[in-house]
Amino acid sequence: MRVDIITVLPELIRSPFEGSMMRRAIDKGFVEVHFHNLRDYSTNKQKSVDDYQFGGGAGMVMNIQPIDDCITKLKSEREYDEIIYMTPDGETLNQKMANSMSMLGNLIILCGHYKGVDQRVRDLHITKEISIGDYVLSGGELGAVILCDALFRLIPGVLSNETSALTDSFQDNLLSPPIYTRPAEYKGMKIPDILLSGNFPEIEKWREQKAYEHTKERRPDLLEE
Ligand code: ADE
Repeated sequence: MRVDIITVLPELIRSPFEGSMMRRAIDKGFVEVHFHNLRDYSTNKQKSVDDYQFGGGAGMVMNIQPIDDCITKLKSEREYDEIIYMTPDGETLNQKMANSMSMLGNLIILCGHYKGVDQRVRDLHITKEISIGDYVLSGGELGAVILCDALFRLIPGVLSNETSALTDSFQDNLLSPPIYTRPAEYKGMKIPDILLSGNFPEIEKWREQKAYEHTKERRPDLLEE
C-alpha cells in the first residue's frame, strides 16, 4: 500500500509513523507513506493556502489551487484507488471499512483545516470522505494517523501474529473478552479457573460467552447489527 498524505502540518504527524507497528509496516516494505506540504504547492507569494469564505461567515476556507495542483500531480504519476478527505461530516470509520480499505493499493489522504476545503475540491477529486467520530478536531491530521494505523495493522504480514488482528474487538461485531497474564493470583485477585484448566474447547466457549456479555452490557447496538 502507498499512502500520500496532503497536509499543512506534516511535522505534526511524522512521528506516529516513526515508531511501533506503523514503523515496522514501513520498514518491512508493506507500506510507503509520503507527506506533501500543501504550502509547497501554493502559487502566491505568501504561500498561503486559505482565504475568507464567499458570502461571509466565520472561519477560513482552504483554497482549491494548491490542493488541485498537488492531487493532479500525484494522479499523473500513478492511479489511486481512493482519494480520501478527512472531515467530521464524512462516513464514520469502523472496522468493516478498515477491513475492506486495507486491501487497497494507492491512497491519497487530504487533511482538512480551518473551516474545511472549497467544495469544488470535493466535487472534483474526492472519492471518499471519512470521519473518525462525532466530534470536531482542529484538523484532519490526527484522523489520518488513526486511519493509517487501523489499515496498516490489517495488512497480512504487518503484525507478527496475524491472528491477533482477526481476533480484535469488532471483527465479529463482538467486543473482546477479558484477558489475563501472569501471575495467576495478584494481591488475592485470582484469574478465572477455566483459564488454567487446559480444556481449550471449554476455554473458547467461556471466551465467546464473556465477549457476548461484555458486548451486551457496553455496546448492545453491535448485537443488533
Ligand atoms: N477533521 C476535523 N474533525 C474531524 C473528524 N471528526 N474526523 C475526521 N477529520 C476531522
